Amino acid sequence: MIVGFLCENCGQGAANTAGVLRMKYSDEINIVRVPCAGRVGAREILQAFNEGAEAVTVVGCCFGACHYSDSNLIALRRVRIVKKFLVEMGYSTHCVTMYTARAAEGDTVVGDFEDVVALKENPGEAPCPGGEE
Ligand code: FES
Repeated sequence: MIVGFLCENCGQGAANTAGVLRMKYSDEINIVRVPCAGRVGAREILQAFNEGAEAVTVVGCCFGACHYSDSNLIALRRVRIVKKFLVEMGYSTHCVTMYTARAAEGDTVVGDFEDVVALKENPGEAPCPGGEE
């Protein structure tokens, strides 16, 4: 299972565009709609792992286009902090990612989802938290 936190403006908008265009993405992606990527922090990401997620991604608006000032930059900083925490715990940094998208770009978010699935399946030398045997 992969948890994708999508901001309701561009992230969810891009996923909606992908749906309108009948683009397909992995059914491993479980979308959690959030008002803004900036609402996602270490607590939400770690809770997703604790509840069985093998990878977590955050998709927000492009930098400079967040509807809540620069909150997507705050989200990026938080994702980077969680990556460091995962390394300390012996896990791969590839298990948590952040992407940006424009609402009209369904193909962008579908490509992001494909990247997340690929990284989850090949996280490198360390496993993802939920992916251990
Ligand atoms: Fe989309 Fe803030 S509203 S990232």
